[in-house]
Amino acid sequence: MNRILTGVQSTGTPHIGNILGAILPAIELSNDSNTESFFFIADMHSLTQIKDDTTIRENTYSVAATWLACGLDVDKVIFYRQSDIPQVCELSWYLSCFFQYNRLKLAHSFKDKSDRLEDVNAGLFTYPILMASDILLYSANYVPVGKDQVQHIQITRDIASKFNTLLGETFTIPKVKLNTSTMIIPGVDGEKMSKSRGNTIDIFTDDTSLKKQIMNIKTNSTPFEESKDPDTCNVFKIYSSIANEEDILAMRNNYLNGNYGYGSSKKELLDLILIKFKDIREKYNYYINDKVLLDELLYKGSEKAKVIANSKLAMVRSKLGFK
Ligand code: ADP
Ligand code: TRP
Repeated sequence: MNRILTGVQSTGTPHIGNILGAILPAIELSNDSNTESFFFIADMHSLTQIKDDTTIRENTYSVAATWLACGLDVDKVIFYRQSDIPQVCELSWYLSCFFQYNRLKLAHSFKDKSDRLEDVNAGLFTYPILMASDILLYSANYVPVGKDQVQHIQITRDIASKFNTLLGETFTIPKVKLNTSTMIIPGVDGEKMSKSRGNTIDIFTDDTSLKKQIMNIKTNSTPFEESKDPDTCNVFKIYSSIANEEDILAMRNNYLNGNYGYGSSKKELLDLILIKFKDIREKYNYYINDKVLLDELLYKGSEKAKVIANSKLAMVRSKLGFK
């Protein structure tokens, strides 16, 4: 039996990059009968960026509603909120003593975030250790993540190996399950779409705001009649991550032939999103309007996760001489 585990931070409403790049592929994996799945909302990680309790809580609901709308089955998956199992913080401290400060300084995601965020706090720096703790506490064998998270899994593997070598077999060494079928989806400004960059396409907003976001996608100023390069256009890149091959080819030809403006490709993108995500948007609205249900589902998940967390933590404490 394989055990897969993944988390999504509650830093905002999940966008199409999160949905196509992480949530849908993870749910697909959870449908395999030989797989046990742990999916959680990394709300403690989001504290590195958000300090407002209402925002954190609302974002958590929004991430939970997205997983459920995308088809997560709570009878098959242990689905929980990270902060409901604070044991992860205790383990995180232990693990931090098994990883070199000099190596943590080299983490790409810290460099990237510390270059562009105002609040460069110590939590942002020790973020990978809490992530290692998320994974090792539940003995996951596989961690489905996007390319940007691969280094964090390597850090997790190194910490686990070091602990096992020094104190005896304790942790399962996890492997990355990289979703190679989805590219990194660009945001409206052409940078990687990310909740923390404010450049997302939020499919859960109303139709008018959705249209506005799509019309705001940055394009160049090639005149209407001229041929355009699809491969450098953000609208085309986003469209390609959602459309089928035939429609992608048709749009590519429209770009190359000219007499086709960005207004038209944006309109096609909007129509496609409205059709493709119709069901997910409806289900999202259902869940987001029933927070009692969301709390209940997350609570049930956390009760199951807690049993596993406690048992692993007892083992770790005993190895460390803390009884
Ligand atoms: P964000 O950058 O929006 O805060 P997270 O860091 O919470 O996203 O990432 C959650 C998951 O979504 C990760 O597995 C990540 O690889 C994936 N992901 C995030 N942004 C994109 C994107 N633009 N394209 C594809 N996958 C993405
Ligand atoms: N760092 C991950 C991200 O930004 C979220 C996350 C936190 C995670 N803990 C995890 C992902 C454990 C996989 C496993 O996407």
